[in-house]
Amino acid sequence: MIHPAELIQRKRDGEELDSEEIAELILGYARGEIPDYQLAAFCMAVYFRGLTPRETYALTEALIRSGETVDLGAALGRKVVDKHSTGGVGDKTSLAVAPIVAACGVPFGKMSGRGLGHTGGTLDKLEAIPGFRVELTIDEFIAQVRDVGVAIVGQTAELVPADKALYALRDVTATVDQLSLIAASIMSKKIAAGAQAIVLDVKVGDGAFMKSIEDARHLAEAMLALGEHAGRKVVCLLTDMDQPLGSAVGNALEVREALETVRGQGPPDFAELVLDASARLLALSDLELDEAEARRRAEAAVSDGSAAASWRRWLEAQGGDADESALEQAPIVREVVADRSGAVARLGAVRVGVAALHLGAGRRTKDDEIDHAVGIVCRRKRGDAVDAGDVLAEVHARDDSSAEAAVRAVAAAYELADEAPPAHPVLLEVIE
Ligand code: URA
Repeated sequence: MIHPAELIQRKRDGEELDSEEIAELILGYARGEIPDYQLAAFCMAVYFRGLTPRETYALTEALIRSGETVDLGAALGRKVVDKHSTGGVGDKTSLAVAPIVAACGVPFGKMSGRGLGHTGGTLDKLEAIPGFRVELTIDEFIAQVRDVGVAIVGQTAELVPADKALYALRDVTATVDQLSLIAASIMSKKIAAGAQAIVLDVKVGDGAFMKSIEDARHLAEAMLALGEHAGRKVVCLLTDMDQPLGSAVGNALEVREALETVRGQGPPDFAELVLDASARLLALSDLELDEAEARRRAEAAVSDGSAAASWRRWLEAQGGDADESALEQAPIVREVVADRSGAVARLGAVRVGVAALHLGAGRRTKDDEIDHAVGIVCRRKRGDAVDAGDVLAEVHARDDSSAEAAVRAVAAAYELADEAPPAHPVLLEVIE
């Protein structure tokens, strides 16, 4: 029998814990035998001391062992693909990639998380779609990937329940942005949900948990090692998160933008990342395409409407209303205008993410309800030319006072200068 306080103390003092000790701590927490406050203290000790590769692997294994696992390959007789992001602002990539990949005939099955801190979560975005069910049983998940070609689900009580609890706890105890905790959290979900090939989008910059390209590389390498250990093919894309991805930040607004992108009308930075990630998944799939052909098929699925048809099939299969008009709209829309002419030198992702959080698009405590309608639409991005009085962004709010506060916060996120900064691609590096 372990003593949690003793393990917390040993971690706090920089010792390496045994795999069995980590397993007992995590599994005890998942069974409700170890309270939130001890796990919160443990996460904080890990935040300062880190985990060794052996401890990170033990944590990943323990998270997986807290629930059931799915062997999608055996259940479908196909290679199933998955994509995951380390979290950013305006990152609705999975929502658009899933139907594009499925439209190309490759099964896509994904288990997702909720928003953490100032970053949004795929499940919260999906729940902006009226009726959409994120809590499928394992059998429903498998059947939907087989019959519809695509499913995105939450961590149910059956799959990785310990990560679900830990994730919510980390969100409100300032212990999210720790490399090993992120790697174990993401890879436990990926391995348990059974996809054989995984594209990981590792965000880098102001709005990401990894602020520097070096830290992002370390996170990518940790996740590649965990994937390799579990026999999965993993490719990591290191992508820019110095500014929000695309235009929309906030749940229903992002769903709308994902659908526009699936129809070929998305903002250029977001559309490029969606096509790139989709093509890499197709290249890893059992279609065995080369990258150029994979990209061509992803583009064709968007332009011939098959990706939009697959979006509708997917939403309806999970009980969602696929009509765009069903998405809730905020009652108040205010504009943020440029106070001078020039170009956007910077658009701080964290400031925009926090402004959206304060509008109600995210949670400040574990039990906060999300307001799906609110958020921000960034009409101008880094490098865009502006004239004084041009609309930089729109704030979608529930009431006047939150709208005014968000207008001030978003205005402060924009830095205007005489000249545009050098162009900066969204895809920074690929690690395989
Ligand atoms: N995404 C996850 O699934 N887990 C984390 O810890 C961070 C981002």
